[in-house]
Parts: sequence; structure tokens; C-alpha cells
Amino acid sequence: MELLRHLVVLVHLVGFAVLFGAWVVELFNGKRGITRLMHWGLAIAGVAGLALAAPWGIEYDLNYAKIGTKLVILIVIGALLGIGAGRQRKTGSVPSAIFWLIGILTFANAAIAVLWR
Ligand code: HEM
Repeated sequence: MELLRHLVVLVHLVGFAVLFGAWVVELFNGKRGITRLMHWGLAIAGVAGLALAAPWGIEYDLNYAKIGTKLVILIVIGALLGIGAGRQRKTGSVPSAIFWLIGILTFANAAIAVLWR
């Protein structure tokens, strides 16, 4: 059970890496757009995160305030990805506030995961 939980954490981290990595690529290639990979990363991190939100395979209590905060942030990132992708389809570009918020909030969620004990 413990090994399975660690594997789900690994999948969760892959989701984070795909989302944040795809965002960094767009930051440095100058396009600053929203890509399909970002949606995939969010979906992978979200599904694995929800699985980890249940207390299985651990002997300590989960921090539900932290998990709830991360869930709210994930939903906001999802909304920004949706709004940004819509704007990109209509106008050909993503408002820079939306693009930056996606990266900053993704980074913030990882920081919360690691620093909030
Ligand atoms: C973009 C969104 C997210 C990012 C970047 C992210 C990032 C991370 C990272 C880096 C860790 C490893 C931290 C560590 O083990 O010290 C982690 C663990 C965890 N995350 Fe997330 N996360 C996200 C969304 C979520 C969501 C939506 C949930 C739940 C609803 C969630 C629940 C958890 C739980 C429960 C753990 C601890 C796993 C364990 O130690 O058993 N995460 N997250």
C-alpha cells in the first residue's frame, strides 16, 4: 500500500513537471501561449492529487487545509487555462496576466506542497 502511494506521488510529480515544463518552454520560446501539454499536466496532477487526498498507505494525519488550498489553486489554474485557450483561439494570443498567473500559481502549489508542514 505504501509503495502504491509512493507511485501515485510519482505520477503526481510527473503531472506537475509536464504542466510547469510546458509553461517554461512557452516562456522561453517567446510564444507565451497555452498548449495541450499544459492541460494534460494539470489533469495528471489533479487526478493523482485527488487520489492522494484520501488517507491510505500512511500512518500520519493529512493536512486538509493544505490539500484544500492546493485544490482551489488547481481549479483556478484550470479556469485560467480554459479562458486563456479561448482567447488564444479568438485573438491568436494569451493575455500576459493569464499566462504569468498560470506559471506563478503552478509554482506556488509546488511551494505549498513542499514548504507547508
Ligand atoms: C498544479 C497543481 C499541483 C502541484 C504543482 C502539486 C505539487 C506537489 C508536490 C511537488 C508534491 C510533493 C511534496 C512532498 O511530498 O513533499 C505534492 C504532494 C501532494 N499533493 Fe500536490 N500538487 C498539485 C495539486 C494537488 C491537488 C489538487 C491535490 C489534492 C486535491 C494534491 C494533493 C497532494 C497530496 C495529498 C500530496 C502528499 C502526498 C504524500 O506525501 O502522501 N496536490 N504535490
